Amino acid sequence: MNIAVAPAGEAIVAQFEMRCIECGRTHDMSRPAYACTSCGNLLEIKVDEKAALERLSRSDFKKRPLSVWKYRELIPIGPQTEVFSMSEGGTPLIRCQSLGREYGFKKLYVKFDGTNPTGSFKDRGMTVGITKAKELGMKTVTCASTGNTSASLAAYAGRAGLRCVVLIPEGKVALGKLAQAMMHGALVVSVKGNFDQALDMVMKSSAALGMYVLNSVNPFRIEGQKTAAYEVCDQLGGKAPEYLYIPVGNGGNSAAYWKGFAEYESMGLAAGHPIIRGIQAEGAAPVAHMFATGSSELTPVQKPDTVATAIRIGNPANWKKTVRALKESGGGARSVSDKEILGAQKALAKHEGIFAEPAGAAALAGLIKDLEEGLVDKSSEVVCVSTGHGLKDPDVAVTQSSKPKVIEATLDALKELLEAS
Ligand code: F0G
Repeated sequence: MNIAVAPAGEAIVAQFEMRCIECGRTHDMSRPAYACTSCGNLLEIKVDEKAALERLSRSDFKKRPLSVWKYRELIPIGPQTEVFSMSEGGTPLIRCQSLGREYGFKKLYVKFDGTNPTGSFKDRGMTVGITKAKELGMKTVTCASTGNTSASLAAYAGRAGLRCVVLIPEGKVALGKLAQAMMHGALVVSVKGNFDQALDMVMKSSAALGMYVLNSVNPFRIEGQKTAAYEVCDQLGGKAPEYLYIPVGNGGNSAAYWKGFAEYESMGLAAGHPIIRGIQAEGAAPVAHMFATGSSELTPVQKPDTVATAIRIGNPANWKKTVRALKESGGGARSVSDKEILGAQKALAKHEGIFAEPAGAAALAGLIKDLEEGLVDKSSEVVCVSTGHGLKDPDVAVTQSSKPKVIEATLDALKELLEAS
């Protein structure tokens, strides 16, 4: 595809810095790094907004079609680097009129990131992450995953000719995601444990085994994912919504959205920023628990469990980033039950034509609960992020729907059935 590139010759180091979120120590971006070498905290990329704006003002950026790479100048990839892309991003912001009417919201939207190339928002991060892996000269990439990250990583690694090793929790990955990782040629390793244990293994083994980690602790993933927030503002005509509801698992995407909104606002590219509400499943809700109890430390959930397997995470690696993001936005986190998640999934599919996987319906479930509890005003402009496609998890969809009616192959039988139902 045709990717707009920044003017050649500009030194990337002058525009971006990789820093520790706690102590602020800067780290070399030309080497793999996921944690501060001084204090062990997470790393993030700081954009030199003035320099970026200057480059944007000299570009045709506003005319480019929506996509992750529309925002090339705001992504920390060298201007000469070859980009590995499959047209990720540019996903629809769908106005939900039926559900809006049902719940009394005048302006309710779903940002449907399930329409990305491999069916989830992970592709936004992965196009940047894999491009970075190649820039660094890595030969093998790895991740632990509840499913979508592994599917996306496998696809992009295949395109880039990299070896891909994915660790997944045994028996807890939706069928569609597993099929994707296998078809795209990853070495799929099923770990007798949960996601948190698999991620721990990845983090402990990657350096010794020469593997580049592309979980969301990798700050370059976040740089790709933040573009979803830029897109929402562009799709709303240059302003942010008042509320954004988003599922929280490992905490990377909610932090990425906040980063995108905050950068876009501070560069004057959009007006305002949303209050962000992070939604977790009741059986895997350590971040929601922090907000409910006012605690400043995370207490991991030892045995996380939920029908929304994508967010079946008890010890979110990015908890500090997401808690900071939710607080800075003026929002917070809450939990919803599996029943509420499945109800929202059905409502999105039936009334809006949006088939989301369970985790991708959690945001709407959270909005409905907030509304019931008077925590959100119906006159607000609200965006719910739907993170993954429903086809990823056919088992959950089929088990909660009524079975097809079986009839004889005659018109009479059809007529009889239609009259009876
Ligand atoms: N929604 C879906 C569909 C996901 O796959 C995930 C995470 C999330 C929401 C939560 O995002 O972790 O950034 O807070 N899936 C990861 C994976 C963990 O391995 O695919 P988060």
